[in-house]
Amino acid sequence: MDRLEKNIKILRELLEHEFNKDKTGHSADHLERTLAYALKLCEKEGGNRDIIGVAAYIHDVHRLMGAQLGRFCTPEESLPKVREILAELDLTEDERERIVHAVKHHEEYSFGKEKVQVTDIESMILQDADNLDSTGAIAIIRSFRYGSANKMPDYDPTIEFYQNEYSESVNDKSTIHHLYNKSLRIGNYMHTQTAKDIAKEKMKLIKDFIDLYLKEFNCDF
Ligand SMILES: [Fe+2]
Ligand SMILES: [Fe+2]
Repeated sequence: MDRLEKNIKILRELLEHEFNKDKTGHSADHLERTLAYALKLCEKEGGNRDIIGVAAYIHDVHRLMGAQLGRFCTPEESLPKVREILAELDLTEDERERIVHAVKHHEEYSFGKEKVQVTDIESMILQDADNLDSTGAIAIIRSFRYGSANKMPDYDPTIEFYQNEYSESVNDKSTIHHLYNKSLRIGNYMHTQTAKDIAKEKMKLIKDFIDLYLKEFNCDF
């Protein structure tokens, strides 16, 4: 078992059970997919694998805190807890700080209120990996889970489609509006070419899904 595998094993022991109580699309399977995407991107695009792997598994601690407090918590608010967990792992001080940096900035979007500020490859890969799980087949399921946990309608035909300055802290008007606002365009804003390539098929599915949903919704058979 290499150093990253040992660190991930400890993280699973500490976090998997807690995350599996989540009802908003951020359960441990999201962490596992983010980790898998991140390692794939790291293999093709470079960056420090130990930093990228740990950052991928630990990035959504703010969602756990949000569930406990019953409100949206920013990634920044979760940093004391993230540091506490990182202290349990085999990492240098410099690696810990670079992981904290990546976690703090992972919810920035070039089409968002909080614009992308990061320039290091590890943070960019974490953003791409997390965002790859926001589009595609599983993203549709995750979005409806999130919508249902947050009492959002599946769709509201009285509200025009919009693509606004996106922010994770503001819920969209319906889950279909969310797919249109985020999942349908996130693939165009990936940092790495590898992520752009993986996103293509996912984006096509989102477009086809929304189109067919609207046809069915409108009884346009
Ligand atoms: Fe997050
Ligand atoms: Fe995430």
